[in-house]
Amino acid sequence: MLVSPSLLAANFANLERDIEMINRSEADMLHLDIMDGVFVPNISFGFPVIKSIQNLCEKPLDVHLMVVEPQKFITRVRDCGATLMNVHQEACLHLDRTIHEIKQAGMKAAVTLNPATPVSTLVNIISELDMVLLMSVNPGFGGQKFIENTLTKIKRLKALIAESGSNALIEIDGGVNLETGARLSEAGADILVAGSYVFNSPTPIETITQLKQL
Ligand code: DX5
Ligand code: ZN
Repeated sequence: MLVSPSLLAANFANLERDIEMINRSEADMLHLDIMDGVFVPNISFGFPVIKSIQNLCEKPLDVHLMVVEPQKFITRVRDCGATLMNVHQEACLHLDRTIHEIKQAGMKAAVTLNPATPVSTLVNIISELDMVLLMSVNPGFGGQKFIENTLTKIKRLKALIAESGSNALIEIDGGVNLETGARLSEAGADILVAGSYVFNSPTPIETITQLKQL
């Protein structure tokens, strides 16, 4: 299993310490949640913070934009050192154009789906994607309860990926712990995002290793 800890649950007064922990861990990426208070009812952090993180973090940056009109920020996200840019399907009027612009900017492209958005909405774009991020909570906050329907969506998404010949990986975000993680692994998830489960752990490095072993 690939693991992308979400910095949303870190100690924002001591980000350097938390990022050094991530560097020492087996994490595959660092997940960064940008929120605008419009697409989701919360505001997190923005580009100056990510720019500072870029200089400290040795892991690829997995940037999840929970903002309206994310296409406006492609160059800014790239200039912050992102490897992967996740945009919400619900926030993109011209998703095909946005995905191509992300790839032209030199990043990997991912589309994120809210819990109520069906997997079938990706049928005409799946072959272009490096990753699909399925939200297993409603976006905006850490520490929420896992939505069980995600397991069915993974199976549908796996079938869509197989029939289209796409290489897209499946990432899951929200309510991930060892118990839900084991079931997500069995259903076919490739990457687990985990915020509170990692950063609230007394032994976060070991917690990341345990998630990796799923
Ligand atoms: C929620 C964010 C998540 C969040 C997950 O909108 O996209 O990445 O950090 O938090 P946990 O793992 O605590 O559910
Ligand atoms: Zn996220």
